[in-house]
Amino acid sequence: PRMSQRGRILLGISGGIAAYKSLELIRLLRGAGYEVRCAVTRAAVSFVSPLSLEVLSGQPVYREEYLGANGSGEELHITAAAWADVICVAPATAHTLGKLALGLADDFLSTTVMAFGGPLVVAPAMHSVMWHQEAVGSNVERLRQRGVTVLGPAQGALASGETGIGRMVEPNEILDALRSLLTADTLAGRTVLVTAGPTREPLDPVRYLSNRSSGKMGFAIASAAAARGARTLLVSGPVQQPTPAGVERIDVVTAEEMREAVFSRAAGADLVVMTAAVSDFRPRRTLGHKIKKREGISSIELALNPDILAGLPAVAPETILVGFAAETEDIERQARLKLREKGVDFIVANDVSRPEVGFESDDNEVVVYRPSGDPIAFEKQSKRQLAGRLIELFTEAISRERSQQEPAPVDS
Ligand code: PMT
Repeated sequence: PRMSQRGRILLGISGGIAAYKSLELIRLLRGAGYEVRCAVTRAAVSFVSPLSLEVLSGQPVYREEYLGANGSGEELHITAAAWADVICVAPATAHTLGKLALGLADDFLSTTVMAFGGPLVVAPAMHSVMWHQEAVGSNVERLRQRGVTVLGPAQGALASGETGIGRMVEPNEILDALRSLLTADTLAGRTVLVTAGPTREPLDPVRYLSNRSSGKMGFAIASAAAARGARTLLVSGPVQQPTPAGVERIDVVTAEEMREAVFSRAAGADLVVMTAAVSDFRPRRTLGHKIKKREGISSIELALNPDILAGLPAVAPETILVGFAAETEDIERQARLKLREKGVDFIVANDVSRPEVGFESDDNEVVVYRPSGDPIAFEKQSKRQLAGRLIELFTEAISRERSQQEPAPVDS
């Protein structure tokens, strides 16, 4: 089922090759439950078809010539500005950035921005030679000083075939930024600590024991917490994930380092979510030199790693504690066992024997267990979307816990 509408986004599209990514962006935004209307500049129409934009957004597209009053006497740029919760210009060309920076208003998009009092987000896209021009730099600086959110540009392949800075950031990064602008600050004043990724347990300087965790689940949880205004700390094992906006990241390698990082910060947090796939075992001995093939090795002796989560109730008794459970069989029993043995408030169980959910995939399907109350099942969905829902569940638990801790009202 589609989520309820939680925000209205006016997507301004100016004329650059990156305009083709607008289609994907609209799809993502609508999938996340937002209403989207598009406004194209004259040049944009050469790069992306207004009909495609109209079909994907499900709304008529504002064209450049809609400037000012239409036949009805309605001033469309005023009504469009009043409709939008946020305006996002992606891609933003050097020309469009210049117009917005200088306050020029000669087409539908620029007049609408001029009539708009809310948050403005721009995602520049141009050749790196243009991006490095002083004129562009000072326009971008001017926009930043005015509180405009400037996303990217990113490094990578450019339309010219060269490589450099100037690519528009990926649609899912734009979605993240818009989400944090549009999400209510339900975790303002709270601190959330999240762990993510695998740990690596070295055997020698080049070899290690680890697992397939990509960090996607934990990074999505951290992003959802930060979007809701929490001070968010993310203790991450070695992964290839960009740090979400507004998140303080602490990189670790081994389970022992992760334990240090978590134990020293957990008591100060209102919520700890352990999505990390901590290696249960480590080689008993780590060699200082690379084991040579001709030396041979017939067995690796393993030692048990500390269980970080199980140690947390003693370290952070006031904190809401959440563990994940990666299971392949008998999920419910294992999850309930972990809930009890580790003494935590929630266990989020996922079936890691299925390739389309769990480790590495973009989606997950989970059942959440609590010491009392029925388990809550979350159907298969993107880890990003699921992260938002889980954080909402944990936020309620924080509020309940904190209201119980407040002194009872005294009868006079
Ligand atoms: O990173 P992704 O590719 O997105 O994949 C996500 C995931 C599958 C890794 C994630 O959803 C998940 O299930 N994480 C928990 C993995 C795990 O280690 O499960 P477990 O059942 O072995 O451990 C139970 C809980 O104890 C976990 O919260 C774990 O962080 C914690 N633990 C485990 C061992 C240990 N030595 N210390 C711990 O704190």
